[in-house]
Amino acid sequence: EKEGYEHFMLKEIHEQPKGIQETLVRRLNEDGTINLDGISMTKEDIENFDKVYIVACGTAYHAGLVGKLVIEKMARVPVEVDIASEFRYRDPFVDEKTLFIAISQSGETLDTLAALREAKRKGARILSVVNVVGSSVARESDDVFYTWAGPEIAVASTKAYTTQLICMYLIGLYMGSTKGTIEKDYYTQVLEELKLLPEKVEKLFGEEDQIAALAKKYHRKDQVFYVGRGLDSGVSYEGSLKLKEISYINSFAIAAGELKHGTIALMEEETLVFALATQDFLYEKMVSNVEEIKARGARVVAIAKEGRTEIEQVADEVIYIPPCMDEVSPVLAVIPLQIFAYYVAKERGCNIDKPKNLAKSVTVE
Ligand code: F6R
Repeated sequence: EKEGYEHFMLKEIHEQPKGIQETLVRRLNEDGTINLDGISMTKEDIENFDKVYIVACGTAYHAGLVGKLVIEKMARVPVEVDIASEFRYRDPFVDEKTLFIAISQSGETLDTLAALREAKRKGARILSVVNVVGSSVARESDDVFYTWAGPEIAVASTKAYTTQLICMYLIGLYMGSTKGTIEKDYYTQVLEELKLLPEKVEKLFGEEDQIAALAKKYHRKDQVFYVGRGLDSGVSYEGSLKLKEISYINSFAIAAGELKHGTIALMEEETLVFALATQDFLYEKMVSNVEEIKARGARVVAIAKEGRTEIEQVADEVIYIPPCMDEVSPVLAVIPLQIFAYYVAKERGCNIDKPKNLAKSVTVE
């Protein structure tokens, strides 16, 4: 079943180009537009929403962090993103003009399901982004936007996350074009960028040896930080979660600009920091953040786009992702972080596919 891979997690990391491709082709028309076949949301509905709520847990929540920025940018509507177990206990501002998006790989996460029911009770329109066809979340939603990642067996989610991101882009683009908040050229350009992703992810696998070598070098660290700005901040949270859940290393993610307001106190000689610097318009800011971190003696591994080499002057190591539009970079930037977490856990002899204390789907409160 593992098809020659040592673990399901590694197999699933490698299945991402296929999952992305599949999730895309199901939603693309031949004329280069997005279809929402099977989804009953009308143009009028989309124009009427005055708010979007994205609610999920864990990795799916991290996809929501990216989704918030993407949908706000494209559809010019305020988007709140929340953790399901928080949302359901605080009487959130949800009504008939709210689009509620639940994201869930399994479709069985109890908190997500309860949050969905609460939003439904308040009259929101429910669109879910789900991987398991016919799951509880899917059944109870008005509409379902499926991810086509295929079955995810490893407890640590990988291909579900990247396919959830694809759904965020497609929903943002669809809403934006329906509302007229994005130009046709932009719509076409982002779609073209999305279509190039499977090939670019495949290309990134060429760096697996370099990343495995980093894991060998750093696997004894007892704390690792992940920092980034904008879309990279969301990806930082996901990179950090991947590492801690399978390698049991204490990891922490924070928006890079927030470091100096407290957390930088923890930076010392030999602390390992992943600095994500894939956003062109925030690149210089990230270079300064890396300088601040380096001044405390920490080790920095940067993630940047090919061709943006300035960061080499301040970081200890750089992992390059293929050039792309800023919008779609999370799909690429997360790959090295998944691979790093995997090889660190392997070096440490951990039970990668079934980490201690964790279950694949959390059906208790
Ligand atoms: C992390 C992980 C969990 C899940 C979370 C939500 O790798 O797998 O954080 O993402 O439990 O699960 P779903 O998406 O099934 O609702």
